[in-house]
Amino acid sequence: MRKTTTLIFLAGLTVAPAGAAPFAKGNAEAGAELHAAQCDGCHANRFGGDGGKIYTRKDRRANNPGQLAQWLTTCNANLGNNLFPEDELDLGAYLNQRFYKFK
Ligand code: HEC
Repeated sequence: MRKTTTLIFLAGLTVAPAGAAPFAKGNAEAGAELHAAQCDGCHANRFGGDGGKIYTRKDRRANNPGQLAQWLTTCNANLGNNLFPEDELDLGAYLNQRFYKFK
């Protein structure tokens, strides 16, 4: 119970308050660099060489900013490379600007 509450609280922080653009505090340029270095290769392997397809496929998993934030955390945890919350914010800013375009 307690863990769930903390997760929801953290997701709320990452996504920014209603009214502001999601991930508005992230730096999309820094996110793009991180993404190219740490994320794209694995996604590309699974999606015929075009890693971007994972974010634009019809049955994509992230369908709102909260879910996107959750996936950033999930993939980061799978990698075990301990990105900081700021890094996740940068990645979110980049992915949202380039692919998801959540308002
Ligand atoms: C070792 C492989 C691997 C790496 C590295 C990886 N991912 Fe993923 N990622 C996946 C797989 C596999 C899925 C799809 C899971 C599914 O469809 O159920 C995924 C899905 C996602 C999604 C959800 C896409 C959707 O469907 O909307 C996001 C967002 C994401 N990854 C972000 C990242 C970010 C950011 C990084 C770098 C910090 C990263 N991933 C690194 C394997 C990886």
